[in-house]
Amino acid sequence: MKIDPFLIIEKFYQPGTKSYDILVDHSRIVTEKSLDIAGRLPHLNPDLGFIQTAAMLHDIGIFLTRSESIGCFGKAPYVCHGYLGRELLDELGLPPEYGLVSERHTGAGITKENIRLNNLPLPERDMVPISIEEKIICAADKYHSKNPKFSDRNITTAEVIEELQKINSDHAERFTLWAEAFRL
Ligand SMILES: [Fe+2]
Repeated sequence: MKIDPFLIIEKFYQPGTKSYDILVDHSRIVTEKSLDIAGRLPHLNPDLGFIQTAAMLHDIGIFLTRSESIGCFGKAPYVCHGYLGRELLDELGLPPEYGLVSERHTGAGITKENIRLNNLPLPERDMVPISIEEKIICAADKYHSKNPKFSDRNITTAEVIEELQKINSDHAERFTLWAEAFRL
């Protein structure tokens, strides 16, 4: 199945708008970083074609959330963009692996327990990366911020871990394991 991520993006975002430009720039950077990581892991046999498309679509749900700094004026809290993106991709009839990348990329993935204990506005289920492609895209995403104030910054692995630690120590622990395995 050949999927053109731009045709999908343009179903929901108007080229030339702030949200389109931010989404496409960020997604391209994350795709490049994901392919770079995947290229160093031939022994794990990641699916490069899948990564190329799924990384372009991982943030498709942002327009449904409220995040004015990136031109998004939806109703949902920003933390919902992953699972809302999954719903969009599933509704379009894409194979479920694409939606799962979107649902599982927030932070270093979010556990069901985390959702329950912190009363997060998310469906109560585990949203943690499982496949190698999900882990790679989730990790790559942490190195670039969509916020125009920070989007030019080079983020280091130590900074990613520090930021994830602020959310919850299991985010930082999961990411640290990937950082070691992926030599980030
Ligand atoms: Fe992202």
